Amino acid sequence: MASQKTDSKTRIAIIGTGGIAGAHVTSYLRMDDVEVIGGADIVKGKARKFLDTFNLKTAKDFNSAAGMLDALKPDAVSVCTYNSSHAECAVAALEHGCDVLLEKPMTVTLDEALAIRRAEKKSGKILTIGFQPRYDVRMKKIKEVIQSGALGKIYYVQTGGGRFRGIPGGSFIEKRYAGVGALADIGCYGLDMALNAIGYPRPLTVSAAAYDYFGTNPRYNTPEDAARFSVDDFCGAFIRLEGGITLDFRMSWAMHMDSTGATIFLGTEGGLKVEPAGPGHPWGGAWDGSCGPVTLFHDYLGTPTHTPIPLPEPKEDNFYLKCRSFVDAVRRRLPAPIPSDEIIYNQAIIDGIIRSAACGREVSVEFTE
Ligand SMILES: NC(=O)c1ccc[n+]([C@@H]2O[C@H](COP(=O)([O-])OP(=O)(O)OC[C@H]3O[C@@H](n4cnc5c(N)ncnc54)[C@H](O)[C@@H]3O)[C@@H](O)[C@H]2O)c1
Repeated sequence: MASQKTDSKTRIAIIGTGGIAGAHVTSYLRMDDVEVIGGADIVKGKARKFLDTFNLKTAKDFNSAAGMLDALKPDAVSVCTYNSSHAECAVAALEHGCDVLLEKPMTVTLDEALAIRRAEKKSGKILTIGFQPRYDVRMKKIKEVIQSGALGKIYYVQTGGGRFRGIPGGSFIEKRYAGVGALADIGCYGLDMALNAIGYPRPLTVSAAAYDYFGTNPRYNTPEDAARFSVDDFCGAFIRLEGGITLDFRMSWAMHMDSTGATIFLGTEGGLKVEPAGPGHPWGGAWDGSCGPVTLFHDYLGTPTHTPIPLPEPKEDNFYLKCRSFVDAVRRRLPAPIPSDEIIYNQAIIDGIIRSAACGREVSVEFTE
């Protein structure tokens, strides 16, 4: 078993030096027990430029993840590539003996996620998946209310959200890079928020539909991006979970609506309503760590009533907390903060939505863990 690190710094390297890698490095640079030692990107010159932006003059740049892992032998890596290369990079890092912070979504397909899990188990290294809304104090409060048992047996969850208009560009809209669209970009957060709160029950079946009416239309997207758009911009799904729970889910990058409504949890003793964050907030849902009012519906002395739940104010940046909790786990050999045991179910649902939308009927979710 790896020993706890005390005095020396944790040596971290970055795989994929695009947009989100900057948030990882910004967080690591706040930590005096971390050294960012290198970056790798398949686009020539990109890693050097990236490292220089952060004044990381002594950090080494590479054109391949494997080359960097061989040369630098980092303690840990952040995998910040686009979704379709998550699996190859995470597996390579685990096989090189690194602990891994893998950006969300875990992968594109369930098979890729299972391949990462096999490498994780074989290596005995830490793998955590980067869902920073988990660290939001309001999301923690919602989970605390649900886990207190105040709702009794939970049997139905409705969640999702999305944007009125908010189709991204770059690598997010092409299947060969992103694999999936709104569903993987922001849908994985909505799923995580709901499933984490109720203890991540195993998915059993998925019936889903996905659309691309906005992304492919030059009225709602630039002509260049509309022409290369090859993923979903909206999806809806009905998912059966273990324990007789049903999950009604939808997610959008663009639609003729401000929100797809509140997230609701229905139980035998109470219901919890989590309202969207509201106007002025870019998201029409409660999936990204922010939310509007949270209300508990229940009976009091035989009369239906409702109680507003006071919410704490965030004091720290969720992204920093995600990177910090990874570093703490690496240095103190703690369990993965956001383990693949949970996120494999998130990925199984995404995979089920893709398969069901493609064949136009319900599909079952079957895999051996
Ligand atoms: N947690 C968050 O808030 C958040 C926000 C944005 C994006 N993301 C996630 O981060 C990931 C990257 O998003 P982005 O916006 O930075 O994308 P991006 O396209 O800007 O950057 C990805 C980079 O990875 C590089 N790359 C691809 N395959 C590679 C490989 N095999 N080896 C080395 N480099 C490789 C690309 O050349 C590119 O520079 C996505 O999975 C996305 O879902 C997370």
